[in-house]
Amino acid sequence: MNTTNQSNILQTEGLSRTFGGQVAVNGVSLAVREGEFKSIIGPNGAGKTTLFNLISGMMPPSAGRIIFEGRDITGRPAFYRSKLGIGRSFQMTTIFPNLTVLENARLAVQSREPHAFNFWQPVTRFGRDEEKAFAILEMVMLGGRELQAAQTLSHGDKRKLEIGILLATNPRLLLLDEPTAGMSRDDVPGIIEVVQRIKRAGGRTVMLVEHKMDMVMSVSDSVMVMHYGEMIADGSPQEIARNETVQSAYLGGYTERAG
Ligand SMILES: Nc1ncnc2c1ncn2[C@@H]1O[C@H](COP(=O)(O)OP(=O)(O)OP(=O)(O)O)[C@@H](O)[C@H]1O
Ligand SMILES: [Mg+2]
Repeated sequence: MNTTNQSNILQTEGLSRTFGGQVAVNGVSLAVREGEFKSIIGPNGAGKTTLFNLISGMMPPSAGRIIFEGRDITGRPAFYRSKLGIGRSFQMTTIFPNLTVLENARLAVQSREPHAFNFWQPVTRFGRDEEKAFAILEMVMLGGRELQAAQTLSHGDKRKLEIGILLATNPRLLLLDEPTAGMSRDDVPGIIEVVQRIKRAGGRTVMLVEHKMDMVMSVSDSVMVMHYGEMIADGSPQEIARNETVQSAYLGGYTERAG
């Protein structure tokens, strides 16, 4: 099967991963268009995080292929995929706690440029990077906290900074695995707002794994449903909300809300 399509930024073909005798991801063939906001939903253990691990190169697949911008990257390591522009959030690991919020964002901006981490660069470029960092912090709702040490941020604001750091590296494909996970009830609306802002700002290709159905249905161009490692549906939020197989496998009581 060769269905490589130039307008797709990412494609997987028959992607599978087993752990011992257990099939975590089972023959998933998906396509993500450039600029698309695609969510992946499914019950706990359905294989969503494993799918992200395969796409980002954290682990090799047991079978299948991954094509990114027309290039077969199946056997390529994670750092190479990250250089190509597959960006994935890693909780807490990317934040420098002793640096300010702004310094964290600026270093992430610089990491994508030639001569990364050169503090002795011309002052004009330093200013440009700082401006980009400012804009990104505004987007993730950390405006006004630029000069605070990152370690003094609340749990929810740290998550926003992680997302900001990821945005600052300007990935071609952004993978967000349950950004609201582990957040207190008070912090969840802020994280949802950040994801909605990323959607509204446009120009990005995003894959989002989330259990918060209202957010998924409001931000997604398409929703893919996983169940026991398989992709059981892929369509518009409206199609997915009405899909009977999805209803019985996962959505349970979720019905589209009026308005
Ligand atoms: N490194 C691993 N070693 C062994 N089994 C694993 C590993 N990673 C995942 N699994 C198994 O693969 C299956 C899919 O797990 P995965 O974490 O991908 O699910 P998920 O859809 O992300 O679930 P959740 O919604 O709870 O995050 C589970 O049965 C899990 O126990
Ligand atoms: Mg998971």
